[in-house]
Amino acid sequence: MNSDILKQNEKSWDALAESFFGVTALPQLGCSIPTEDELHLFPDLNGKAILEIGCGSGHSLKWCAEHGAKELFGLDISNEQISTAQKLLNDSGYKCTLFRQPMEDNTNIPQNYFDVVYSIYAIGWTTDINTTIKNAASYLKQGGIYIFSWDHPLLHCVDLESVAISGGNRTTDKQERIIFSGNYLEEDYYTFEKNGNPLTLQNRKISTYINALADAGFAVEKVIEETSDKVLTKSAEFSSGYYADFKAKHFPLSVVFKARKL
Ligand SMILES: C[S@@+](CC[C@H](N)C(=O)[O-])C[C@H]1O[C@@H](n2cnc3c(N)ncnc32)[C@H](O)[C@@H]1O
Repeated sequence: MNSDILKQNEKSWDALAESFFGVTALPQLGCSIPTEDELHLFPDLNGKAILEIGCGSGHSLKWCAEHGAKELFGLDISNEQISTAQKLLNDSGYKCTLFRQPMEDNTNIPQNYFDVVYSIYAIGWTTDINTTIKNAASYLKQGGIYIFSWDHPLLHCVDLESVAISGGNRTTDKQERIIFSGNYLEEDYYTFEKNGNPLTLQNRKISTYINALADAGFAVEKVIEETSDKVLTKSAEFSSGYYADFKAKHFPLSVVFKARKL
């Protein structure tokens, strides 16, 4: 794990917690992709023990409780997020056990205990994907389900461009297109700012996730690379937004993995 990056991200997530209240939480799995209500990736949660890695404001844990989960566990690097999740679940009348710790660290979490371990839009923050996925395997009972979602790696590799097309000696029209401006092979750290707070991430290949799952003893049951019908069937303005529908019409903005511990 990279302690300097974790410290910086923890501080920034503490500052950002309020603006991420209920953002990207079940039944949403990602951006412009079908929801859990449509995909049914989660097994029946009735009476099950579940753990969310990167539980944020606790909205996904609440969704699991509403769907019958009996034991709710969560971990998150941010103290602010943990306090927010604790309050949300308490106010909703659900008991939960939450730990403030990075997903790279497996202290505190019961081993071979959970029926379902999941992460909705959090796994990309790990500084050690192999350890994080091995940790998830160690928390699950044999046959347990692991589901996680994140940005599709192509998203980091493209940009939008609007170019004028000349007809004869006059400019007649504009062509709006997606260009491949990044490097899919590059998994180096990069830093950006959100509301003035620095955050550091790595973009990872689809194969990096699948190989880490295989190395940790998982069988991959499903990989979702889809755009929702709702987005595909509506007209999308050309827009340079990172999660623009214009892009979603050409490739999935998020990817979801479902695996079973062997
Ligand atoms: C987009 S939010 C997840 C939202 C969550 N699914 C929900 O339902 O509210 C991402 C979360 O990952 C957490 N995070 C970032 N880096 C982490 C790390 N290394 N270990 C654990 N959590 C981390 C952040 O604090 C943040 O709460």
